[in-house]
Amino acid sequence: MSSQHDSGALWSAQAHMPSIQGNQLVITRGEGSYVWTATGQRLLDGTSGLWYANIGHGRSELAEAAFRQMKKLETYHVFGRFVNDQARLLAERLAANTPVDNPKIIFNSGGSDAVDVACKLARRYWQVVGQGQRQIILSRESSYHGLHAYGTSIGGLPYNTEGYGTHSLVSDTVRVPTNDLQALEQTILALAPGRIAAMVAEPVLGAGGVIGPVDGYFEGLARLADRYGFLIVADEVITGFGRTGVMYASQRYGIKPDIMLMAKGLTSGYAPLGGVQVAERIWTEFYDRADAPVFRHGITYSGHATACAVAQANLDVLEREGLIGRAAVLETHLVEALEEFRGHPLVREIRSGHGFFAALQLCEEVDAPAFIQALLDDGIILRLLHDNIVVIAPPFTLEDAEISAIARSIRNALDEATERRPVSAGTL
Ligand SMILES: Cc1ncc(COP(=O)(O)O)c(C=O)c1O
Repeated sequence: MSSQHDSGALWSAQAHMPSIQGNQLVITRGEGSYVWTATGQRLLDGTSGLWYANIGHGRSELAEAAFRQMKKLETYHVFGRFVNDQARLLAERLAANTPVDNPKIIFNSGGSDAVDVACKLARRYWQVVGQGQRQIILSRESSYHGLHAYGTSIGGLPYNTEGYGTHSLVSDTVRVPTNDLQALEQTILALAPGRIAAMVAEPVLGAGGVIGPVDGYFEGLARLADRYGFLIVADEVITGFGRTGVMYASQRYGIKPDIMLMAKGLTSGYAPLGGVQVAERIWTEFYDRADAPVFRHGITYSGHATACAVAQANLDVLEREGLIGRAAVLETHLVEALEEFRGHPLVREIRSGHGFFAALQLCEEVDAPAFIQALLDDGIILRLLHDNIVVIAPPFTLEDAEISAIARSIRNALDEATERRPVSAGTL
C-alpha cells in the first residue's frame, strides 16, 4: 500500500511527523561546506550534518577508498579468530595518538553503540576484578549519549528519556549536575562510592547546547575518580577528530579517560563507524591470563572493513590538509564573529570558545523555528536544539568569508525576529 503522507514511507529520526509533512528538506548532493536540496537550493552546511562532516562533503578520495575496499573485500567479521586487515590497520593508527593509556580498540557502527559498549565494559570490568557491586553509571544533566538503551538511560535531556514507563531502561544509572564537582561528590557519597562503576561525560556537551567545562572541572573529576575508584568514560563522539582544534578534546582539557568513545568525525560521515578506546588497566583483565573471561560483546559489523578503510582515508585528509589546526584557527574567528550578538536583546547567551562550534541561545519570545527558516531562506543551515538554542558546527573546510556569511544571516534573522516581536505596552 502506498504511503498516505507527503513524507513517504520513511519515518524520520527525532521528528514530529505531523509538522514535517510537506515540509521536508531532501538533500541530494554535497560538496565541500555545501549541500544541495532536491529542488536545487544550495545550502551552507553550518552544522556539518549532525556534527560529522568535519572534512566537508563530496570527497572522491573517500569514495575511492570505499570502492577499492569493496571490490577487494566488502568486510569480514572480527568475531573469535577472524579479523580483517583494515580494522587492524585502523586500530593501530588510532592507538598511536591518543590520550588513552596504551589502548585496545573495539569498533562498532556509531556513537550509541560505543556508549553501550563502554557501559557494559565498565560493569564487566568491575565484575572481573571482584568489585561486582560497582554497577552505577553516572552521567551529567544536559548530556547526550545517543539513543540506544544505555544512551537513552544515561542521557541528561529529559525529553529523550521520558515516556518509556521507567526512569532508566537499564538499571543503575544516575544523573548529576553538569559542571558541579561538589554535587557530584555528594551524589557519590550518598550512593556509596563502592557502587559507582563509571562516570560518562562529554568533554564539551554537544546536543545539550555546546557547554564547555568550567575551569578545573576535569582535574577535579580525575581527583574524585582516584579517591573513589570509578572509571572515567570520555564521550568524544562529537569532540573527537578535531572539533576542539586538537585530535581529541581530552587532550585539550587534560582528561585521561579509561574509556574513550569515537564516531562521527572518525569517518566524517562517509561510512557508519564508531569505536571505543580501552585503557590497559581494563583490557589487561581480558587479555593476560589463560582463564581471562571473554567480553561478550560484538556486532556483525564491528570493524567493518570498508568503513575502516574510509576512516583511514578520512584521517589522511585531516592530516594532509592540516584541518585540525585549521579548526583551531576557525574557532577564534567564530568566537569573534559571534561577539556582535552578545547583549542583543533577543540573545540570551552565546557559548563559544571550546572548539570550532558554538551555540546561541535565543530569548524565549523568539519564534526559533521561524529564525531557522529565515536562515535557510538565506542559504544557511543551523540547527535548533531545545530551549531556543541554535547550534553552529561547520566543516573545517569553511572559509572566513563563510563565517561572515553565517554572522550576516544571523543578524538578518534577528532583525526579522525583532520586527515580529510583539510590541509591549511599555514601548508604545
Ligand atoms: C556525545 C554523543 N554521544 C553519542 C552520540 C550517539 O551517536 P550516534 O548517533 O552515532 O549513535 C551522539 C550523537 O549525536 C553524541 O553527540
